[in-house]
Amino acid sequence: MSNKLILLISFVALTFGCLTLAYEPKPLQDFCVADPNSSVKVNGLACKNPTQVQADDFFFSGLHLVGNTSNPFGSKVTPVFATQLPGLNTLGISMVRIDYAPWGINPPHTHPRATEILTVIEGTLQVGFVTSNPGNNLITKVLQKGDVFVFPVGLVHFQRNIGTGYAVAIAGLSSQNPGAITIANAVFGANPPVPGDVLTKAFQVDKSVVDLLQSKF
Ligand SMILES: *[C@@H]1O[C@H](CO)[C@@H](O)[C@H](O)[C@H]1NC(C)=O
Ligand SMILES: *[C@@H]1O[C@H](CO)[C@@H](O)[C@H](O)[C@H]1NC(C)=O
Repeated sequence: MSNKLILLISFVALTFGCLTLAYEPKPLQDFCVADPNSSVKVNGLACKNPTQVQADDFFFSGLHLVGNTSNPFGSKVTPVFATQLPGLNTLGISMVRIDYAPWGINPPHTHPRATEILTVIEGTLQVGFVTSNPGNNLITKVLQKGDVFVFPVGLVHFQRNIGTGYAVAIAGLSSQNPGAITIANAVFGANPPVPGDVLTKAFQVDKSVVDLLQSKF
């Protein structure tokens, strides 16, 4: 092999290595089952003694249960994160079930730490995400049962049930603890509130509109 080729291969390997590291750190051991009782504060959750690990630490039961969608959005997310499944700690992966009432929405939100890949199990969903500034292009699609869509890490995205019945989706997320920032709640429901004059100027509306929106969250 020529030196140039070796250099190119090293560069590519280094680039992809760094991309991996840009998300969750690579585990340094087989597993690190979360110990909910540990008072140690680390990036993630402290490990349970590996000699005391059991099969149930890698197990979660309940994703067959229908989420309660009786809420203003008409949707319910059932998470399986490291908190619910301690064996996920340090593994950089998790999943959710999402139930939607007819015309229910999973409102615009972002996951600061995860890309999300979603598949429709039942029903018809309109899904979409918006690209970063400038541009803010809406990328949207109607999904039927069995269709798969990906929401890139950090981007604002939503789903809406546009079928006549209930809809169900399962999604995988590239973090043990993806985090969720629901835009409306974060902006209009902050505690303490974001000052009204910041929001009137940001949204270019009257104070009464901001007051109304803040009263809803
Ligand atoms: C955490 O502590 C509680 C109460 O002492 C105990 O019942 C539980 O088994 C402990 N959990 C683990 C994973 O050690
Ligand atoms: C669903 O949630 C609503 C609103 O919180 C509640 O009133 C209702 O009892 C719940 N239904 C079930 C079956 O848990």
